[in-house]
Amino acid sequence: MSRPKVFVSRRIPDEGLNAIRAACDVDLWPDQLPPPADELKRRVADCDGLVSLLTDRIDGALLDAAPKLKVVSNYAVGFNNVDVAACTARGVCVGNTPGVLTDATADIAVTLLLAAARCIGAGTADAKNGKWLTWEPLGWLGQDLAGRTLGIVGMGRIGFAAAKRLHHGWGMKVLYADQFANAAAEKELGAQRVAFDDLLAQSDFVSAHVDLNPTTKGMFGAAQFAKMKRTAVFVNTARGPLVDQTALAAALRGGTIFAAGLDVTDPEPLPTDHELYALPNCVIVPHIASATVGTRNAMARLCANNVLAGVKGDPLPTWVNPEVADKRRA
Ligand code: DGY
Repeated sequence: MSRPKVFVSRRIPDEGLNAIRAACDVDLWPDQLPPPADELKRRVADCDGLVSLLTDRIDGALLDAAPKLKVVSNYAVGFNNVDVAACTARGVCVGNTPGVLTDATADIAVTLLLAAARCIGAGTADAKNGKWLTWEPLGWLGQDLAGRTLGIVGMGRIGFAAAKRLHHGWGMKVLYADQFANAAAEKELGAQRVAFDDLLAQSDFVSAHVDLNPTTKGMFGAAQFAKMKRTAVFVNTARGPLVDQTALAAALRGGTIFAAGLDVTDPEPLPTDHELYALPNCVIVPHIASATVGTRNAMARLCANNVLAGVKGDPLPTWVNPEVADKRRA
């Protein structure tokens, strides 16, 4: 019997790749940059499985060009790059990598919060560029952290993990806005669920942890920044399009808020001449929240397990659309 064929759209850690290779014929895209859309479509045309990245757009047209495709295993927890409804309608399973990147992502949310609050971007640049002339009584003054109020927008796994760090480490009071109550966060951290606008008005630090969908796109715009404290620090480790970046730049430039820390932008990469880079109170890193050796290995293993289950017709270990079960492609 022939082995299933799987297209892997970028080199992922060997722990995952070797597991897929052991059971399938792998076509690996070797370049640093993603395959162009047409090339992706061409490469998956005769595949049973696809390992995709968040930079690959998986839509109905691609699925129609790949009649044998049984599973899309996204190497990310977020899956806004995948048209899940189109997959489900065609009997294609979708997997993602939740859980294994929670700690690494929460760590970067805290890192960005600290860096933005304590002027690490401006301080580092000034030290390097000869603007560190002496010990400055009034230079690089940041925001205090201990005992302040943290607003978590989206108290899921990652929001909760970030809140734990900041509550237990810095004694922060935790507010959160979410469509669902998180009983564990309320019990362990005394977190209080409040309306989004109240969270914006009361928080010293606002950290975004919601997924990107039509209802969350652009949820942080001029009106929301205007509601925040002038001393507020805004952090985004979720998805760039949650934020109206023109409004964020204006808020940072005009002192509507104090600073921002971004792991994600729109687009990615953010063009080097983008106005956000020019702002000393904006810290930007290149979407690295899950970028630790252990986390990326764990993502690769989970991603491999999803694609292997998908091509075999087994339940996916982390299955985005289990409702497809009854109509999976044979
Ligand atoms: C994800 O998994 O969705 C992150 O953005 C990248 O690891």
